[in-house]
Amino acid sequence: MTLRVTGLLHFGMQVPDLSQGEKFYGDFGLETGEDDGRLVVRCDGRDQDQALISEGPKKAIGHVAFGIENGSTDEWTRHLEGLGLKLLDAPAGGREGGLWFRDPDGNHINLREEPLAQWRSFGEQTYNWGDVAPRVDQAAWQTLINSRTRPRRMGHLLLFSSDNEKSEQFYTRTIGMRLSDKIPGGATFMHSAPGDHHIFGFIQSTHPGLHHTSWEVANIDEIAIGAQTMSQRGYSEAWGLGRHSLGSNLFTYIRDPWGSWIEYFSDIDKIGENWEPSGTDVPPAVWCAMMPPETFHINFEEAPRS
Ligand SMILES: [Fe+2]
Repeated sequence: MTLRVTGLLHFGMQVPDLSQGEKFYGDFGLETGEDDGRLVVRCDGRDQDQALISEGPKKAIGHVAFGIENGSTDEWTRHLEGLGLKLLDAPAGGREGGLWFRDPDGNHINLREEPLAQWRSFGEQTYNWGDVAPRVDQAAWQTLINSRTRPRRMGHLLLFSSDNEKSEQFYTRTIGMRLSDKIPGGATFMHSAPGDHHIFGFIQSTHPGLHHTSWEVANIDEIAIGAQTMSQRGYSEAWGLGRHSLGSNLFTYIRDPWGSWIEYFSDIDKIGENWEPSGTDVPPAVWCAMMPPETFHINFEEAPRS
């Protein structure tokens, strides 16, 4: 049986000013803390680090960590070494432990025997949509007007790749990722276990970088309220509100202070073991209130990285 990771744990990134990161992620609705000189980002109600941000001369994606089953490290070691991969020590900014190696673009990958922590429930959703109208004698706006968007988990992360096909093959062979869908020469979406349509993927570029991280919120209102809050706090560049094609999730993206995007998402497609991937060119959104910015697929990270 092919080994495969259990899911996405966290990512590591370097930025020039940790206090800017603390403010940005806090404004986005995430919790921040400190660990060994790094900024740690978490979701409300979830006992799991989702981002480890360290200080460095320029912004750069550092690593991506995935979960593996308890007691499986030896088997994974044999598997990775059998593929000719060199196992490494944790890089600067990374957390000790687990298995470390690099992908063809030089990104560090970390496999850890760490369970995916449970995330909080959103509770019952009372929308009068279609033929079902559970909300009677309740004025929704009175609740929504004072609400604040708080993501409950990081759902996925997309890297820029210098070669999407090569990256897809590498992650399939090494950590058991499976293709969900792709736009040849554009975007590749992957999953591991049944669940979200994608937890990881690639945007075609000339060199590595972070395209976006994506964080789950309860519904369309939380996406729009979060985007409104970010706009009011000075993060003016955004794309949304819309519904994606591949993955079908509702979305709004906000440009982070370092040139990548951060996404609120809700209502993503769930897929099982028998999902059949597609590979045709489709527009990025079924609908959206605006056209994507011309810079949406531009990789602002420097190449090559130090
Ligand atoms: Fe996304």
